[in-house]
Amino acid sequence: MKSTIGIIDSGVGGLSVLKEAMRLLPGEDFIYLGDNARCPYGIRPTQEIYQFTKEMIDYLISQEVSTIVIACNTATAVALDQLKELYDIPLIGVIQPGAKKAVQTTNSKRVGVIGTKNTIQSKSYTEAIQLLDQSIHIFDLATQNFVDLVERNMTDESITLPIIERTLQPLMDESIDTLILGCTHFPLLSSVIQRAVGPNIRLIDSGYETAYVLKEKMSQSLDVFEQKNDRPPVNVRFLTTGDVTHFKTIAERWLQMEIEHVQQITLGEFK
Ligand code: DGL
Repeated sequence: MKSTIGIIDSGVGGLSVLKEAMRLLPGEDFIYLGDNARCPYGIRPTQEIYQFTKEMIDYLISQEVSTIVIACNTATAVALDQLKELYDIPLIGVIQPGAKKAVQTTNSKRVGVIGTKNTIQSKSYTEAIQLLDQSIHIFDLATQNFVDLVERNMTDESITLPIIERTLQPLMDESIDTLILGCTHFPLLSSVIQRAVGPNIRLIDSGYETAYVLKEKMSQSLDVFEQKNDRPPVNVRFLTTGDVTHFKTIAERWLQMEIEHVQQITLGEFK
């Protein structure tokens, strides 16, 4: 049976997960929900992030999704374990897949992690990496300012490169060979980040890795579609709690597709 996959984020960052998920699962239906009106989550109290994430999950369950990807490192770090106890439907987070890929990638065993203030404070990546390989040295840095650049659609290199270079200098001083983009907003800046750190540092996109985990989970239904030559086109519903025009501009640019309709919804009590 065909099912709908829900993808949630505090804003437009989860589009980096959706983009890969659409590529890997072309026969599936998706609903994307961005809580842009309450973004950023990265500097909010833990209890609020938990509550907001729960509201997004409850909304998507009311829309009959079968699986939800929490395409937000902050919500994964702060709320995933607790939320998993509440729901029967599969909830997939983004930290574990990114940590695993970094462990497989690093040669020097010196890995950098960038993320929001809350993600970095939670030490979730450090724990996930060290569970897999204790000999890896982790250098983490909160780069909350990168979220603002993406949410404000300020992704042009002329603006972002000097900011990114300056912000990442402390990690460059640690001779890392691998850098985890531990926030789903950051892949929208990945070409500039790559330029800032140089070609010898491998970037790990945790959202991209998560899309493969999702594909694995959905593999049964994918097999059904792969047996057909005429796969149905990807069908995505876009929802935001914020401004629809702004959301549409960023989503169309990032996904390189025309979006007919973005629906605005209200969740909980606006803060
Ligand atoms: N996209 C989010 C993440 O992966 C959060 C950005 C924010 O709301 O601060 O952490």
